[in-house]
Amino acid sequence: MKLSKVLLTGTVGLLSLGLAACGGGSGEGGGGGSQTVFKLAFNQTEEHPQYKAAVSLSEKLEEATDGRYSIKVYPNEQLGTQSDVVQNLSDGTVEMMYIGGPVMEGFNSDFIVYNLPYMFDTYEAQQQIFNDDELNADLFASLEDSKNIDVLTALYAGVRNIYNSKQPIQTPEDLQGLKIRVQQSDSQVQMIEAMGGIASPMGQGDVYSALQTGVLDGAENNTTVFHQLKHDEVSKYYSYTKHLMIPDYLLINSDVLAGMDDADREAFLALIPETREEANSGFLEFEDESRTEAEGIGAEFNEDVDTAAFKELTQPVVDAAVAENDVRKTLYDAIQAANEANPA
Ligand code: GCU
Repeated sequence: MKLSKVLLTGTVGLLSLGLAACGGGSGEGGGGGSQTVFKLAFNQTEEHPQYKAAVSLSEKLEEATDGRYSIKVYPNEQLGTQSDVVQNLSDGTVEMMYIGGPVMEGFNSDFIVYNLPYMFDTYEAQQQIFNDDELNADLFASLEDSKNIDVLTALYAGVRNIYNSKQPIQTPEDLQGLKIRVQQSDSQVQMIEAMGGIASPMGQGDVYSALQTGVLDGAENNTTVFHQLKHDEVSKYYSYTKHLMIPDYLLINSDVLAGMDDADREAFLALIPETREEANSGFLEFEDESRTEAEGIGAEFNEDVDTAAFKELTQPVVDAAVAENDVRKTLYDAIQAANEANPA
């Protein structure tokens, strides 16, 4: 784990933030009875492996710091949408959160490289990139000064595919005219428009009713959101366009991290790789389980998709984004090497 040198060496006048947290309470969602309880915002359910990994991070942190720190996880968008919560994280009223990659583009557009269509060929290729601390060090610490935010780690968040209420999608023609929800960023809008659909950016919590009322024809997401957030009830055709493998990030307010004493911070940072590991391995199973359960309630999964056609249509979006600057080019080249080393 490599945060900025400032944090690692602890040479700055560290803010004293023992007072930072509140809202604890024991039991569900972690939290325990520790002196300082970080609030961690999450927009999905308690069944999700990222929720479970955060609860076990809390338990280990509490033990490692002799009860000085723990984490209380707030699931189901209780603290607001990711776009809203990240502002509170920046202000320090929420200490930690999980966030989808595209929302990060609003703060530093170079995050876009990891959110582009058909970027990672395999899970292993994506893992190679996110195991490379040196490659990601500057990007992950890039919001410390401007936004008071550090990226602790990047997590696997599934493969995203298109689902809709009308028909299976096999070719780009099938997507023509369909209104598809995307995450809130330019890269996601451009991607769906290039694939042939009409992009409708919105927060995750509004998607179910928009599908139900026909405001949306469909959305794009992994099988876990499709089933766990009940989108399969109102949008039953799930087609494996496999257009995205976007990471989620675990974020922390930089002052909060800096405010921990050195030994506690070190203990905390040492727990992050295993938290990521737990979340990732749980996610792979969760994807499969979610598909089986969705099938059980009548969802139809279509593997027969012309992914090459979709990839070709989105290539100009990728090329334009990567050509923007050298930071992006470096990340992109590393991804190509990781894809070659970990082919499908
Ligand atoms: C995934 C991802 C979330 C994101 C969501 C979305 O579930 O893990 O971080 O918010 O997709 O599409 O909004």
